Amino acid sequence: MRILVTGGAGYIGSVVTEELINAGHRTIVYDNLSYGHRGAVHPSAAFVKGDLLDGETLRGVLRENETEAVMHMAAFALVGESVTHPAKYYQNNLVGGLSLLNVMRECDVKRLVFSSTCATYGEPAKVPIDESLPNNPANPYGESKLAFERALKWFDRAYGLRYASLRYFNAAGATERCGEMHDPETHLIPLVLQAAAGGREDVQIFGDDYPTRDGTCVRDYIHIVDLARAHILALGILDDRSAIYNLGCGGAGYTVREVIDTAREITGREIKARVVPRRPGDPAVLIASSEKIKRELGWEPEFQDLRLIIQSAWNWLARHPGGFSERK
Ligand code: UFG
Repeated sequence: MRILVTGGAGYIGSVVTEELINAGHRTIVYDNLSYGHRGAVHPSAAFVKGDLLDGETLRGVLRENETEAVMHMAAFALVGESVTHPAKYYQNNLVGGLSLLNVMRECDVKRLVFSSTCATYGEPAKVPIDESLPNNPANPYGESKLAFERALKWFDRAYGLRYASLRYFNAAGATERCGEMHDPETHLIPLVLQAAAGGREDVQIFGDDYPTRDGTCVRDYIHIVDLARAHILALGILDDRSAIYNLGCGGAGYTVREVIDTAREITGREIKARVVPRRPGDPAVLIASSEKIKRELGWEPEFQDLRLIIQSAWNWLARHPGGFSERK
């Protein structure tokens, strides 16, 4: 299929692009490089530097490439920043997203896979979290993603635009060529590995007084390749229906301390850690039920062991100590 990937120069988008190319799809990356890296774009993908709000460029790209489906990953994703600067999140994630939908409608592109988030649920009423739980986002980031999902429902009903919305839990790990490199970095695993590599003094543990097995927060880490493969499976439903799926590995998840201990084991480095106060807005436990996507699409995570996830990220960091800058 001919597929446009918005945000294909970002962490998740670059791996989705890689998997699409491996699966034989023709892929066009559309990214404004506000956070993404040109060097992360797969060499076999076409690349267009452009913004979601630039409808004219987007329209040209969809038409010229006779695009059959869109994977929409371009978004801002810093929870803390969304609280202090909600306008930025609504503008890009919602207004930019609607611009994309309108152009898709004009160009008669009717298949969309959307990069959503478990932040739509907010503090969950129970775990594991399945898709029937109420949505109650605790920050503008989650609100902006949920608002876009809600628009999708109505675009489907009115215009026949079919979508699969994938609500990611904690994406982590790397492939050989693509890994996680944000600026600023806020995610736990890359921060821990930077500390292991000597790039930072220590790791902060945001609170150890949560009601969990060791007092630190529990998260559901999913390998980026397993996550990317779910996108390809999701493409398969779009000829006849739309759906929303959670995407995590389930089980008991891992605490912050377990992540740090596993990273010490994998890297053989000391990794200093110190407890600091809780980060506002962090739920104690976020674990997915991914039964629906397993049942309906036959998705199964292949790399759910945290050691495999951390090992892949560590290998990537060793190969690319300067991130993507050397490939720009
Ligand atoms: N953490 C630390 N120290 C750090 C960084 C993180 O202790 O320096 C903790 C956090 O408090 C949290 C866990 O490590 O308990 C994971 O934190 P991340 O920032 O890596 O990820 P989050 O769980 O906060 O965020 C993820 C996604 C978001 C999504 C959110 C939903 O990355 O996009 O889940 O709540 F919105």
